[in-house]
Amino acid sequence: MSEQQHRNKSGFETRAIHAGYEPDAATGAVIPPIYATSTYKQDGVGGLRGGYEYSRSANPTRTALEGNIAALEEGERGFAFASGLAAEDTLVRALCKPGDHVVIPDDAYGGTFRLFDKVEKVWGLEHSPAPVSDLEKVAAAVRPGETRLVWVETPTNPLLNIGDIEALAAIAHDAGALLVVDNTFASPYLQQPLTLGADVVVHSTTKYCGGHSDVVGGAIVVKDLDLAEKVTFHQNAMGAVAGPFDSWLTLRGLKTLALRMDRHCDNAERVVDFLTSHPKVGEVIYPGLETHPGHEVAQRQMKRYGGMVSFRVTGGEQHALQVCERTEVFTLGESLGGVESLIEHPGRMTHASVAGTDLEVPADLVRLSVGIETAEDLVADLERALD
Ligand SMILES: Cc1ncc(COP(=O)(O)O)c(C=O)c1O
Repeated sequence: MSEQQHRNKSGFETRAIHAGYEPDAATGAVIPPIYATSTYKQDGVGGLRGGYEYSRSANPTRTALEGNIAALEEGERGFAFASGLAAEDTLVRALCKPGDHVVIPDDAYGGTFRLFDKVEKVWGLEHSPAPVSDLEKVAAAVRPGETRLVWVETPTNPLLNIGDIEALAAIAHDAGALLVVDNTFASPYLQQPLTLGADVVVHSTTKYCGGHSDVVGGAIVVKDLDLAEKVTFHQNAMGAVAGPFDSWLTLRGLKTLALRMDRHCDNAERVVDFLTSHPKVGEVIYPGLETHPGHEVAQRQMKRYGGMVSFRVTGGEQHALQVCERTEVFTLGESLGGVESLIEHPGRMTHASVAGTDLEVPADLVRLSVGIETAEDLVADLERALD
């Protein structure tokens, strides 16, 4: 089946396994080799083989990953980077200029906030935080003529708020801006923002896409070829590209994304069931709960509700810290989306960079990245830690 047919006709799992790469013409290798080469022999000056001249510009292992993730997000072009933040920075510089303005989530991932607040701001880009779940506030934060991007995460990190992608796209487009969706938490298996009107998807592929906590990476996917041209230029000009080994690991992870996500969701649902009836848990935050304010929107735009669960304990910050330190199957650590379960205290860890700002997270909040271990072991581990 040709690349185009994979994109147009195949199911998600088939695309995950085949899109982006045809078995090697010379050897039949079914998995793309790790092209550990910086440069390529030219057949005469300018006579490039397959368009490859230098591995910052393009590398065949990276090309395979880029084609794969574009197909999974139902976009036209994908781009792979050294990290999620490298992807974000490249995207911002490709689409904005000093003097422009962007709207960002008021509970964005701490590193994304830091990028806008401490790096892009110095470069001359203004930003305003708004809650992604409140369309009126997002619309009010937009400055027509100045706002270039409405940037959202959905679900957000760590409060799992849900933004209505279709409605947010309409707000952005009415103001002449583009909608960027950080799809890291949902992954392309659970949600495809480009099909709902978003212009750009960005990923920390470090998380569910890679899925095994063994590689740091980022990706951008676009559907418009003019945007693709700008990102292509900046990817090469700024140079924060994914290396061939990292690309290979990420591509291997994507092949099993569907299976892993279903198990992450199954286990998260079991954990949520347990937490909601525990006397020392004040609030469980999970978009799959009917009581979650974004449940209906999530039901419309997501296949399932993901592997991330946040909860607040009744005993305050000290208890939250103790729970994080007492689990044994849940490993205390930053990051998320790997096969192993992780627990963390956002206020002191991933979101320490937003302390004292409008984006500060509650001190009694615990965040879980529910892995794919045996569900009973995960529940028993939390039970021990809470008691
Ligand atoms: C939602 C989200 N976006 C972006 C990033 C940044 O990605 P990276 O750590 O790969 O640079 C993270 C990292 O945790 C994240 O959680």
